[in-house]
Amino acid sequence: MLKLALVVGARPNFMKIAPILSELNRYPEEFEPFLVHTGQHYDTKMSGVFFDDLGLPTPDVFLGVGSGSHAVQTAQTMIAFEKVLLEHRPDWIVVVGDVNSTIACALDAVKLGIKVAHVEAGLRSRDRFMPEEINRILTDSISDLLFTSSRDGDANLLAEGITQEKICFVGNVMIDSLRRFDNYASQTNALDAIGVSVAEYGLVTLHRPSNVDHPQQLASILNTFERVQKRVCLVFPVHPRTRKMMIDFELMERVDRMTGLMLVDPVGYKDFLQLERNSLMVLTDSGGIQEETTVFGVPCLTLRENTERPVTVEVGTNTLVGLDEERIVAEALHIANGHGKKGQIPEGWDGRAAERIVQVFRNLSRSPNCQQLTAARG
Ligand code: UD1
Ligand code: UDP
Repeated sequence: MLKLALVVGARPNFMKIAPILSELNRYPEEFEPFLVHTGQHYDTKMSGVFFDDLGLPTPDVFLGVGSGSHAVQTAQTMIAFEKVLLEHRPDWIVVVGDVNSTIACALDAVKLGIKVAHVEAGLRSRDRFMPEEINRILTDSISDLLFTSSRDGDANLLAEGITQEKICFVGNVMIDSLRRFDNYASQTNALDAIGVSVAEYGLVTLHRPSNVDHPQQLASILNTFERVQKRVCLVFPVHPRTRKMMIDFELMERVDRMTGLMLVDPVGYKDFLQLERNSLMVLTDSGGIQEETTVFGVPCLTLRENTERPVTVEVGTNTLVGLDEERIVAEALHIANGHGKKGQIPEGWDGRAAERIVQVFRNLSRSPNCQQLTAARG
C-alpha cells in the first residue's frame, strides 16, 4: 500500500490534482491518498468553488497559510507541512505546477527523505524574474519523479542534468479535467448571467505581478482593453491581486467608464470553461489558460514576453504578443476580423494523463525506472 500526500494550494492546482486523486481512488487496495490544502488561496471564489465544481473531497488537512510575501508564505507553508509529514509519514508527496506551495512542500519532503513527484515538470520560461520559474527549477531539481506534459519539458530537464530515468512524459493532467468537466460546463448559464453571446466577446484574465503590480504597466494594458472593447466587448473576471492593484493605483474609475469591459469576480471552474470555449478570443497572462484555449481551438493572445508553454504557440492557438500596446490591439482586431489563429492539440493532451501517472505509481514496486515503466505501458 502506497501512502501519498497530494498537495493543493492555489487556484491552478485544483484542476490538476482532481483527476489524479480520482484515478488513485480506483485502486483502494494499492493506494492510500490524502489531500492537503495549504490555504495559499482561500477566498470561496479562488478555492471553495473548485472543490464543488471538481467534486474534490474536503481536504484531509488544511494548513490555512494564506497570503504574505514570498518568504512568509513559503516559510509558513514549510513549517505547517513538515508537521503533517511527520505525523502521516507518506511514502510520496505529489505536487503540481509552480506556485509557492509547490516548492515549499517539495522542500519539506525531500529533507525528511520522503519522495517527491512533480506533475507538470520541465516547463521553462527562462525568465528568472518570474517567481514561478524559480519554483519550477528548484522543485524539478529535488523531485524523484518528474511527470512532463509536453516534450519540451523532457528536453529542458535533460539539459539541466536530470537523469532520464526520473522523467516521464504523461501528457497534460489539466486537460483531463477540462475534458471531464466541459460537458457539465455547457450546462451552466455563465454567458446569460453576464449578458454575452457565443463568439461575440473576448475573455480577459490578468494576474502576473510583472503586469499588474506596476502602475504604468497595468495602465498600459488597460489602454489596450479600452481600445479593443470599442470593437469587441470584453469579459474580465478579476483576480484579487489585480483588483487590489487597480484600487491602489486609482484605476477603477477609468475601468468603470469602459462600457464594453465587464468586470466580474473570479468565476468557478465550470463557468470559466464555458466562457472560455465560447469566446471569440482570450487575452491573458495565465499559464493554464494558454493550454485550455489551445484545446478549445480559441485564439489566445498572451500578454507576456515569454512563455513556459511553447507548445501552445508552436502547435496550438496561442500567440505571444508581448506588452506593446499597438501590437496587442492589432492582434485583437485581426482576430475580430475573422483571422484567428488555428492550431492542433498537442501530444498527450487527451484526458488520460492521470491514468498514465497512476500506472507509473502502480508499477513502482516492479521498477523504479520511469522510462521502463513508460515502455512497459506501451
Ligand atoms: C499565485 C501563484 C501564481 C499563480 C496564481 C494563480 C505564486 C508565487 N504565485 O499568484 O503562480 O499563477 O496564484 O491564480 O505562488 N488573494 C486574495 N484571496 C485569495 C488569494 C489571494 O485576496 O484567496 C490576494 C491577496 O491580496 C494576496 C494576492 O491575492 O496577497 C496574491 O496572492 P498569492 O497567492 O500570493 O499570489 P497570486 O498572485 O495569487
Ligand atoms: N480559472 C477559473 N476561473 C477564473 C480564472 C481562471 O476557473 O476566473 C481557471 C482556468 O480555467 C484554469 C485555471 O483557473 O483552469 C488557471 O489558473 P490561473 O490563471 O489562476 O493560474 P496560472 O495557470 O496562471 O498559474
